[in-house]
Amino acid sequence: MTLSSTTIDYERLRTTLDWKAAEAELGWEPGKPLNIGYLAVDRNVERGLGDKPALIHEDSTGTVRTFTYADVKRLSNGFANRLQEFGVKELDRVCLFLDKAPELYIGFAGILKLGAVAQPLFSAFGEDSLLQRVEDSKAVAIITSRKLVSRVRKIRDRVPELKHVLVIDGNAEGKPLRTDEGEFAFDMEAEAVPEFEIAKTHRESPSVLHYTSGTTGKPKGALHVHSSVFGQYLTTKMVLDLKDDDVYWCTADPGWVTGTSYGIIGPWTMGVTQVVLDAGFSAERWYQTMAKHKVTVWYTAPTAIRLLMKAGTDVVKQHDLSALRHMCSVGEPLNPEGVHWGREAFDLDFHDTYWQTETGSMMITNLPGMVVKPGSMGRPFPAVDGAVLDPVTWEPVSEVGKVGMIGIRPPWPSLMRTYWNNSATYYSKFHNGWYVTGDRGSIDADGYFWFSGRDDDVINTGGHLVGPFEIESALLEHPAVAESAAIGKPDPVNMEVVKAFVALKPGFTGDDDTELSIMNLIRKKLSPLAMPQEIEFVDKLPKTRSGKIMRRLLKAQEWGEEIGDISTLEND
Ligand code: WT7
Repeated sequence: MTLSSTTIDYERLRTTLDWKAAEAELGWEPGKPLNIGYLAVDRNVERGLGDKPALIHEDSTGTVRTFTYADVKRLSNGFANRLQEFGVKELDRVCLFLDKAPELYIGFAGILKLGAVAQPLFSAFGEDSLLQRVEDSKAVAIITSRKLVSRVRKIRDRVPELKHVLVIDGNAEGKPLRTDEGEFAFDMEAEAVPEFEIAKTHRESPSVLHYTSGTTGKPKGALHVHSSVFGQYLTTKMVLDLKDDDVYWCTADPGWVTGTSYGIIGPWTMGVTQVVLDAGFSAERWYQTMAKHKVTVWYTAPTAIRLLMKAGTDVVKQHDLSALRHMCSVGEPLNPEGVHWGREAFDLDFHDTYWQTETGSMMITNLPGMVVKPGSMGRPFPAVDGAVLDPVTWEPVSEVGKVGMIGIRPPWPSLMRTYWNNSATYYSKFHNGWYVTGDRGSIDADGYFWFSGRDDDVINTGGHLVGPFEIESALLEHPAVAESAAIGKPDPVNMEVVKAFVALKPGFTGDDDTELSIMNLIRKKLSPLAMPQEIEFVDKLPKTRSGKIMRRLLKAQEWGEEIGDISTLEND
């Protein structure tokens, strides 16, 4: 491997690049109000980009709608205005529970312009997943659709703070809305207003709340602030390499942090045109979308790349993808095969990026012009201080290739400021002045980071984190389940899928019907992602003496790994 073809001076960037560069470029000065909604929308209109498309939206039927920055301004004003009329105030949490409708992107900007906190929720969430997140945040309003409102109705009586339910297609034919219960038909076009006085939020004002799963307990809400924009802007510019004329496509759903940091905030603060495809996955459809809209920069995920690989290179060649000039990936380890295939199919490198909901913006990256080493996540973004830490001393390990905990040195603008209602867990993430990611990795002689694995029991399925505890709690709601353990099982496409070990109550049998009804329950209560792809019925589960289920043992068996020393676990 030669690094001689590197065309950027990484070492020089490390000493010169400062997040503050973003402040000046976005026209912000210390002491002035700072609002992401303003920077992402109104500022672009003020600097003459009003007629430029901000969003090219294509739905499952192929209908394309284009929204200019001027459109996004008046439409996002409408959201802010209506919420304000309902009495929603600065710092109140407002949920977005939508498929990838234009209202999701524009509503997000509107919530921020009002100074409220945007809380995106993945549209596939079932009742339990929804309830946990709305209950914890005490959101006062939710923006949803006719298709999804029935799930909101199911939890209303348990979330008394949730007063306003805005239904984007609430005027459509069908069952009437329950207006007496605060449901309101919000027609984005009809609600548009030319001007809205944007809240004078500041650097540390809360902006976005994203829930993420851990090993224990319920999902935790990572709270971000308006100054996160400096991190998102600078990484969008330098890693995604966006330029004025680009047509950018981020395939992530804004229910997850990639879809907000790099599917709304990053591209829009740069005044770039972005494409959104609100349709299910198919390789053919994805290439059609790229060809039709002449996508130039593409940010996607390893699971999608593996699905595209399965569809082959012939289908790539049937489309005119000549506009495409840069590709990036995030969310899970990008296998070397994915990079090799990318070169064959597109004649480009997939540039891996590594970060988390908590970090808010990319931390380890492959900058354009850097030599891509297939299988490596790249090097710390030049303004980021990243290291591999010894888990006992929490000092950086100096040995090349030695595996330790990946840590990032605070501060940086987009680091979460706390976990909502859970500052103890937030503080537990810091050791010896480092933010500890919970991932293990190593650094090679060229300073490239290599991912080894997570240091907890969280399951990463197709780039989405699922907590074993959430699944196990939901499993207990099934009448046949006595106890259970959920682990990640290797999967060629999704990297991991959920597998559940289940011990049944007396009188129940582990037949196909039981298996199916358990699977369905999880799909409905949590989400299709959390649904076990396999259920193994067992007589009992391996436990420590204190009664803790040994997920690690089950996982090692599943992955065919050395089980290692389990004596400590047994004595736990
Ligand atoms: C976890 C964070 C960041 C947006 C999407 C995920 C894993 C993320 C990579 C990568 C290997 C990766 C880590 C991390 N992860 N990117 N490039 N290579 N693993 O955000 O849901 O908070 O998940 O995803 O385990 O901790 P998230």
